[in-house]
Amino acid sequence: MIFRQLFDPVSSTYTYLLASRTGGEALIIDPVLDRVDRYLTLLTELDLRLIKAVDTHVHADHVTGLGELRDRTRCITVMGEQSGVDVVSMRVGDGERVDVEGVSLKSIYTPGHTSDSYSFLMGDRVFTGDTLLIRGTGRTDFQNGNPRDQYASLFDRLLKLPEETLVFPAHDYKGDTVSTIGEEKAFNPRLQVSSIDEYVEIMNGLDLPNPKMMDVAVPANLVQGFNQHRDDIEPWSLEPATVIGEVDRGEAVLVDLRDDGERARHGAIARSVHAPYPHLAEHLAPGGLVAELARTSGRRIIFYCAFGERSAMATQAAHEAGLTGAAHLRGGLDAWKAADGPVVV
Ligand SMILES: [Fe+2]
Repeated sequence: MIFRQLFDPVSSTYTYLLASRTGGEALIIDPVLDRVDRYLTLLTELDLRLIKAVDTHVHADHVTGLGELRDRTRCITVMGEQSGVDVVSMRVGDGERVDVEGVSLKSIYTPGHTSDSYSFLMGDRVFTGDTLLIRGTGRTDFQNGNPRDQYASLFDRLLKLPEETLVFPAHDYKGDTVSTIGEEKAFNPRLQVSSIDEYVEIMNGLDLPNPKMMDVAVPANLVQGFNQHRDDIEPWSLEPATVIGEVDRGEAVLVDLRDDGERARHGAIARSVHAPYPHLAEHLAPGGLVAELARTSGRRIIFYCAFGERSAMATQAAHEAGLTGAAHLRGGLDAWKAADGPVVV
C-alpha cells in the first residue's frame, strides 16, 4: 500500500495520495493547485498513474488542483452529488464507492461544514475533510454550512465508526497529522457537548474572520469543468438528438465510459458498449475493445459518460490513437436524460 500525506503550508491543507502498488493506479484526495507540480513529480517517481482526483467539498481557503490534474493527466474528477461545481467527471452519493485498482473508498455524506461535504472511509482509516479535524471541527458559518447538520454528521456517522479508526483531516493548523475516532471522542473539545443545541451554540459563537483566499478560491473552485465548447473538442461534441439519429441509422455505436457503480445507479443508454475510462488506453490500442469495435463495425464511435468530461477527454485520446471520427455526447447521460433520451436500468 502506498499512502502519502502531503502538506500545503500556505493553506495548511493535507492532500492524500493512495495506491495499492508501485506501477499501479492512484487516487488523490484534496489536491491544492499550487502543489500540482509536486504531485506529478511524485506520481512519476513512484511510477503511478493518476486515475481519480477527489475533493471532499468546495474549499474556501485554497484553489483546488482538480482541474489542473485533469488537464495534465486526463484523470477523473470526483465530488459529491450536492456539489455546485460546474462540471466534475463523477458525482457520488452517500454509500457509493470510489475505486481505483486495489483501493476502495466508501463515501459518507457528512454535511455541516458545507452542504457538499463528504468523508471517505478506507478500511482502518477515514478521510474527514473539514468535518472532523484533530481536536476541532470545520466552521459552519458559510457555503451553506449548518451546525445542526454537522452535529448529525459527527455524532450519527463519523463517531459511530470503530474507535481505533484513524482520522486523517483535510487541514491541521498545529502540526498534528493523524488521530483516531476514540481519541477525538474523548479529547476533542467541540465533541464534549451534551446536546445538539449546545453544539450549535458553540459553532454559532465562533465569530471567525473569513479565510484570506475565500473571495478567490470559492469562485475558482466552482468553475473547474472541462470546457466542452473549446475549439479542439466542439466539432466532436454532439447533442442528444444527433446521437439518437446516428445510432438509429446504424451509423454510430455508443461506448459508455463510466464505472460499474454509476451504471447500476443511473442506468445506461441501450445498446451501448461498456469500456471503463481508466482502461481507455488499452481499449484504444490496436486489438483493444474500442479500436476493434470501430474497425469491425465500420461505425463511428460516440463516447459518453456522466457529464461529458471523461467522454471529451476520451475523444481527444481516440483522435490521437487514429480513430479520427470519434465523437462524444456533450453533457453526458445527464444531458441525455434532460432531453428525454431513453435509459435502460
Ligand atoms: Fe473547507
